[in-house]
Amino acid sequence: MMSGPDLENYSSSYSVNKPSGRPVTGQKRTLELEIFESEQSTLEAAATFVSDQVNNRQESVLLLPTGRTPLTLYTQLVSRSQADQLDLSRVTTFNLDEFYGIGADHPGSYHSYMRRCFFNQVPVAPQNINMLDGTTPDPVAECRSYDQKIEAAGGIDLAVLGIGANGHIGFNEPGSTQDSRTRLVVLQPETRASNAFLFDNQPAAVPPKALTVGIATILQAKRVLLLATGEIKAQAVYDMLNGPVTAGLPASFLRLHPSVSIMIDRNAAERINVMQRTI
Ligand code: GLP
Repeated sequence: MMSGPDLENYSSSYSVNKPSGRPVTGQKRTLELEIFESEQSTLEAAATFVSDQVNNRQESVLLLPTGRTPLTLYTQLVSRSQADQLDLSRVTTFNLDEFYGIGADHPGSYHSYMRRCFFNQVPVAPQNINMLDGTTPDPVAECRSYDQKIEAAGGIDLAVLGIGANGHIGFNEPGSTQDSRTRLVVLQPETRASNAFLFDNQPAAVPPKALTVGIATILQAKRVLLLATGEIKAQAVYDMLNGPVTAGLPASFLRLHPSVSIMIDRNAAERINVMQRTI
């Protein structure tokens, strides 16, 4: 038996999409974990989740991630939008984070990523797209105004998150507290390394600081969808679900949220799969 608490102690629903594709769904609770056979099927399910949110409420306010993980999510949303299965014309978007010290036109910026992967291909109204300004001379004012804009938009309906191998969400690195708001942060070396793919694979070229929406802002979203794929995320996912709720692993704060869905592939579930055999 694994030592430590199991998922049921977190009033979680636990559903597994087995390789046969037949879901085995547990009792309905507040935290739902779904494990998929592949990265592709994980992100397709995530696209369906986001599409359902938007189709149910066309004026949805979305908090959006960047990174490698959501690339297929955006590809899927773009094709659903282009096939008229998804109407994004009335959504409002906020992005989770942006590097500090580079402009929107820098090819490594999250502004560029979002234009390239999503905004240039879907009819989200430009006035409804919100991103932190990495060139602001006054980060405190920029971050305060971002939180105010989220509030003025009626709050986030759905926050879509990736997770760093060190348990970060957005750019809330280990040490980020539950009450943290949107702010300027210093990035850990491993986080800069994992973002090097946007900077010609040069970790040193990744800005050392960033602006990020805070943990408190994320926890105020009505629903949260967290995505993780690949073995490199397995330990962080396991710790998020089984370790203490702590600033040492910011994603663990999601266990305090009333409505969290976690979609991961079998590689990211590697550590959980061991536990699953014990419950
Ligand atoms: C980046 C982003 C996060 C993202 C995470 C995982 O640093 N700031 O929002 O979720 O790291 O990225 P990836 O999906 O590339 O592993």
